[in-house]
Amino acid sequence: MTPRLPFVNMKIAFVGKGGSGKTTLSSLFIRHLASTGSPVIAVDADINQHLGAALGLDEDVAAELPALGARLPFIKDYLRGSNPRIASADTMIKTTPPGEGSRLLRVRENNPVYDACAREVELDGDAVRLMVTGPFTEADLGVACYHSKTGAVEMCLNHLVDGRGEYVVVDMTAGSDSFASGMFTRFDMTFLVAEPTRKGVSVYRQYKEYARDFGVALKVVGNKVQGQDDLDFLRAEVGDDLLVTVGHSDWVRAMEKGRPPRFEILEETNRAALRALQAAADATYEARDWERYTRQMVHFHLRNAQSWGNEKTGADLEAQVDPGFLLQESVTATA
Ligand SMILES: Nc1ncnc2c1ncn2[C@@H]1O[C@H](COP(=O)(O)OP(=O)(O)OP(=O)(O)O)[C@@H](O)[C@H]1O
Ligand SMILES: [Mg+2]
Repeated sequence: MTPRLPFVNMKIAFVGKGGSGKTTLSSLFIRHLASTGSPVIAVDADINQHLGAALGLDEDVAAELPALGARLPFIKDYLRGSNPRIASADTMIKTTPPGEGSRLLRVRENNPVYDACAREVELDGDAVRLMVTGPFTEADLGVACYHSKTGAVEMCLNHLVDGRGEYVVVDMTAGSDSFASGMFTRFDMTFLVAEPTRKGVSVYRQYKEYARDFGVALKVVGNKVQGQDDLDFLRAEVGDDLLVTVGHSDWVRAMEKGRPPRFEILEETNRAALRALQAAADATYEARDWERYTRQMVHFHLRNAQSWGNEKTGADLEAQVDPGFLLQESVTATA
């Protein structure tokens, strides 16, 4: 038995249908966490890259953010470190798990990956780190480059050990891509943002279906909920998975106009909703299961190796798995 360590992943994803409010709610949640003084890494992994703007960056500044997707070889080289099972960056794919010799990432540290790929964003005096996959072009959709962009995020998540009270918040597409790669299993808590519409809840059903076999903690956050009828609809469709609902926010609207008010004057009902999200995420702390986390990583790696990775790289990627490696144990070794 490995002793329990004071480290815990607090990785949180916001997913949902296009336009449901993923970016808006991610950004509000990030602001909320920052206002409590928690260290936060914000990651924009959505097709529509709007998180920077939602965190108050000017469009031109947001457009200049360094793209993870454009720095893959560098990230791979850093993470593989001296891991003898990973011969080169070329043979490291998005699901390649860390092993003996790999470098891990921590939320609070400075490291070359953050230097190259993260930017500090100031939110009412508190700062968070922002990383973005980079914009997806028409050509990306469907094929390899698209995977490689979110792949950079998956790789970082698989190498990240974050401490109690530290948060990684990812604004993400609920597409089939995240199911093929295993990305959807990398979170301690997944908030599915749903408007009270049939389309909104159909994305929930699909997600739930994939999530079931992997023990993914999934909660629905109703957005743009206007009254009892909306609430009844969501409750009837998603039952106990409905965690909380958010109504129309004038604060958000003001922000959209380029006039972000101070966060502390966000409507009290919406602030309460954000506290509920944090409480739900924090409650997963004790449920942390590093062994399962590592096992799932390996599961998806083997699957990806067999379905395309071995062929693409010409290497035996299954041999990259370090059977004695537990993400948790390596923390003891290097912390
Ligand atoms: N609670 C809310 N109150 C007011 N406006 C909102 C609220 N939630 C979302 N919006 C507005 O709805 C629009 C879509 O929201 P947002 O961009 O967050 O959705 P998304 O799911 O990230 O969309 P995409 O799929 O394009 O990334 C935005 O203009 C946003 O300001
Ligand atoms: Mg968005």
